[in-house]
Amino acid sequence: MKYSRISGTGSYLPEKVLTNHDIEKFVDTSDEWIQERTGIKSRHIAADGETATDMAAQALQRALENSGKTAQDLDLIIVATCTAHCRFPSIATQLQNIYKVKNFPAFDLNAACSGFIYGLNLVDTMVRSGQVRCAAVIGTEHMSSLIDWSDRSTCVLFGDGAGAVIVEPSNEAGIISTHIHADGAHMDLLYHDAASGKIVMEGNKVFRVAVKTLERIVDETLDANKLDRSAVDWLLPHQANLRIMLATAQKLDMTEEQVIITVDEHGNTSAASIPLALDVGIARGQIKRGEVLMMESFGAGFTWGSALVRY
Ligand code: COA
Repeated sequence: MKYSRISGTGSYLPEKVLTNHDIEKFVDTSDEWIQERTGIKSRHIAADGETATDMAAQALQRALENSGKTAQDLDLIIVATCTAHCRFPSIATQLQNIYKVKNFPAFDLNAACSGFIYGLNLVDTMVRSGQVRCAAVIGTEHMSSLIDWSDRSTCVLFGDGAGAVIVEPSNEAGIISTHIHADGAHMDLLYHDAASGKIVMEGNKVFRVAVKTLERIVDETLDANKLDRSAVDWLLPHQANLRIMLATAQKLDMTEEQVIITVDEHGNTSAASIPLALDVGIARGQIKRGEVLMMESFGAGFTWGSALVRY
């Protein structure tokens, strides 16, 4: 079998919801400002003691059930994250331990908000080469652990959650192509400050680079496949800011109705945002089998990438 395809999806969101009005109570901001600038209304926040591993395990369980597989079928786990509660062992090997499975590769990767797209790229290559027959790619993030709750310019933006997909070989192209890039020259614009433990971002500058870069990546993706914009049924963007997402939609001549939007309820969940939005888009009845999705992401590093996927 020459190709790979996504055979199942799953996601998990912590129970606690933090609304913009809740945040208004402890920093100088307003629901109106946050919605207007970002599209975010609320986000989920992990419970005390709930880790990125716990959220990943829940999302993986649901993705396995959805694809009719069990953990025993897996022969690869890749976890995209930058918020593991310990530096090692990886969340991926912790999941092996939770599920009592072993003897296959399992590792975490950190490409910030682009981590899930990087994971899809790797898994697609490994499935196509015949090394892997049933892989899990998971994005899981505990962003609230990195937030400075007194910094209004960043604390309103992020949320916690996890999303997972199961990828298997296929005779037809499910994952049509993936494209991944990075440029470390602008790391000062968005980073985790090791001294304070918090996120630092020059939002305005990041915004401008993100819009331009995402325009280029959708062109690159269509060109690589000699496809016209009309071939894409859904834009499934990284959910950081509704204005960035709609700028990319406009570039693709797509309407807001053709964009999977979860940023309003999830905020920016970094590497978890695309698999979460995929699972939600399917559950809502928006995305159907056979439709073509343009996934795209931009994040710290900078890293960026895309995946053109026939679901
Ligand atoms: N509530 C109210 N005012 C706020 C605020 C908040 N939560 N956060 C910032 N402001 C203020 C600023 O202090 C500034 O005030 P000033 O003009 O008096 O100095 C003003 O709002 C404008 O700030 P600015 O940062 O220019 O706003 P913006 O329109 O760029 O929106 C972001 C800020 C963060 C929402 C936006 O830049 C963004 O989304 N950036 C990209 C994020 C991203 O994609 N990250 C990469 C992927 S992880």
